[in-house]
Amino acid sequence: MAATCVVGLQWGDEAKGKIVDLLTEQNDMVVRYQGGANAGHTVVFDGKKFKLSLIPSGIFRENVQCIVAGGVVLNPQNFLAEVDGLVAQGIACKNLILSDRAHVIMPWHFEEDRLMNRTTTGEDIGTTMRGIGPCYRDKVGRSWAIRLGDLYRESFPDRVRQICQAKNRILFSMDAEGGETRLDADKIIADYLGYAERLKPMVMDTTALLLDALADGKKLLLEGAQGALLDIDHGTFPYVTSSNSSGVGVCAGAGIPARVIERLVGIVKAYTTRVGGGPFPTEQDNEVGQHIRDEGNEYGTVTKRPRRCGWFDAVAARYTARLSGATELAVMLLDVLSKLPEIQICTEYEIDGVRTRHFPSHVDDLRKVKPIFITLPGWQQDITGMRTWEELPENARAYVRKIGELVGVPVKIVSVGPDRVQTIAVP
Ligand code: GDP
Ligand code: IMO
Ligand code: MG
Repeated sequence: MAATCVVGLQWGDEAKGKIVDLLTEQNDMVVRYQGGANAGHTVVFDGKKFKLSLIPSGIFRENVQCIVAGGVVLNPQNFLAEVDGLVAQGIACKNLILSDRAHVIMPWHFEEDRLMNRTTTGEDIGTTMRGIGPCYRDKVGRSWAIRLGDLYRESFPDRVRQICQAKNRILFSMDAEGGETRLDADKIIADYLGYAERLKPMVMDTTALLLDALADGKKLLLEGAQGALLDIDHGTFPYVTSSNSSGVGVCAGAGIPARVIERLVGIVKAYTTRVGGGPFPTEQDNEVGQHIRDEGNEYGTVTKRPRRCGWFDAVAARYTARLSGATELAVMLLDVLSKLPEIQICTEYEIDGVRTRHFPSHVDDLRKVKPIFITLPGWQQDITGMRTWEELPENARAYVRKIGELVGVPVKIVSVGPDRVQTIAVP
């Protein structure tokens, strides 16, 4: 029994897609287990760039099964468009399997996302507007939830009609601008039955499938979406996503027991980024941040928003590595820092005059954080063509070693460019 997990340890976009694509070679199945089309995972090889949202990043290796498990919230229209897009680019998309337990994003979820983005703390969450939060809310609320398996039951049209009636009233009362959204139940039913028809060959009980696969000695690769600091329970609440996006969410989302997890690769950027609202202690809202944004092309894969950029936060990464049970780290986008003469790392927080390495549980305390930095010399050399640890400049190696030491987890992979081949194994 063996499962490897790939989990982002920051606020998402750590380049999980690249590592999942690489590790797929050593596995039989790749499983997306939480989140939805809020994710944007990039894979680059042979001069081609692919952006994935719901489809697991293992899709480029034909002998591997790609599974979207029950913890995912699935927008059938997005999913089918993604399949069509990949097929048009010559990717077969065979071996794709969807859980009948996955919850379905319905048209009302988009409206609710738009109307509930504002928090009572005054700052917007800045969601991706993909209906993620409202769909998970209905899942937990149960009464108005629709799972993929429900699309194939006789009761489906009647349930949509009932939910539409209730949602029409709710949406009307929520819209302070007096806008009126009328959900057209007949159109929704027709659209979703159409999607259901196309999806049918892929839909099955993936919990049973994965448990059988584990019993047969198959190797599973679990692909996290978002990052641990966006975890609904353990992240920077309320500026988080609506699923357990840290390592603790793997088992519930996929439907596998905890004891099968052998390896958990924590993915970090060599710096930190965040899209959307919420506190970000090491943010550099200045020329350093702009330099990182330019060098790293830090604009959202899904929403194209400029990502907020800052120095590596070892307090946050140590917290999420411990929470997630990281057995190793992959330090990504190291090349982005190559032109800087000096690089900073946050090693401690100061809150109300008290120094700590403890990541605060309340967002108000996180807002008060004064980051304590150490400064390391840069290497000011192009490293994108380097392929071995020994080739890297000593200052780059020292920087990577420092990250591993501060986080408390060994760094095993360093990435020096977006392409598959721009990857270095750390001895
Ligand atoms: P994910 O959501 O965690 O899969 O990450 P994204 O795909 O949203 O963002 C990572 C971005 O960095 C993508 O555009 C990747 O192609 C790119 N990338 C990945 N690794 C590297 C690297 O080592 N160097 C550089 N410069 N870009 C990288
Ligand atoms: P990947 O998998 C970065 C952020 C949004 C927002 C918050 C809530 O590509 O790393 P949501 O739409 O989920 O309700 O938005 O979470 N967010 C991400 N940020 N990468 C992602 O995914 C994200 N998915 C959601 O920007 O702040
Ligand atoms: Mg992304």
